[in-house]
Amino acid sequence: MSITITPSGQACGAEVTGIDLSQPLADKQITDIRSAWLDHHVLSFPNQTMTDDDLERFTLSFGDFGHDPFFDPIAGRKHIAAIRRDADEKSPLFAENWHSDWSFQTEPPAGTCLLGITIPPIGGDTLFANQHAALDAMPPEMRARYKGLTAIHSAKMAYAPDGAYGEKDEGRSMAIRPDESARATQTHPLIREHPETGRPGLFSCLGYIIGFEGVSPAEALPLLQQLYVWQSREEFIYRHKWQPDMLVMWDNRSVLHCATGGYDGHDRLLHRTTIAAYQT
Ligand code: SIN
Repeated sequence: MSITITPSGQACGAEVTGIDLSQPLADKQITDIRSAWLDHHVLSFPNQTMTDDDLERFTLSFGDFGHDPFFDPIAGRKHIAAIRRDADEKSPLFAENWHSDWSFQTEPPAGTCLLGITIPPIGGDTLFANQHAALDAMPPEMRARYKGLTAIHSAKMAYAPDGAYGEKDEGRSMAIRPDESARATQTHPLIREHPETGRPGLFSCLGYIIGFEGVSPAEALPLLQQLYVWQSREEFIYRHKWQPDMLVMWDNRSVLHCATGGYDGHDRLLHRTTIAAYQT
């Protein structure tokens, strides 16, 4: 069986068919998927009946597991988290803001895999914004403002005890575990070359980025806000529509992503793994 890659026609994203992810992948299939992933940044695999073992095996075809802080894994697994929202849940939507997964880590995960299990009949799309395209299209005078900046990343606004998912966050079905360790900081260049393709792009955004080295907080905030608006412009976005038994893998080095709502009254459940940073 040879795989077929069908681009979304949007700013990134492609659908992959002609493959059965419930079976171990051949080396050629792994090479072909990796190549398509680097080209399209987000790949979706519809109609895959996968167990958690299959999800783990697929993830490990592309690197080690990433380290996933601030979530309890699902029972019996160390590396799978449940992205879950119950039909009657009233807590603010999880991850309804642009971000690159765990960008505050020393070696953030190269990718994320998300398997759709319970998918609502309406809403719950995931948006992806292509950060190579966002940088390529940036006007020169704007690019000059951001060139050479070193971004300071932290999980504190989300996962510190006083953060968005902290101690005041009640009634959430997801096993989020806020912690003081979220206040740690880590720097990464704002504009950097993709470690596998060498293509320059913007890495992460306001939220996990809390400032820039050598820039006062008063100056950094408007810079980050203007950048966030640019990074998430319509022309850089791919809107992913989920189906049950669909696996999606995305490249955190190339895209931002953002959850959306619109499915109140319906359950939504996906199982998530991360792929560790690329080792040469
Ligand atoms: C995530 O950011 O990991 C979750 C995205 C989603 O729920 O659509």
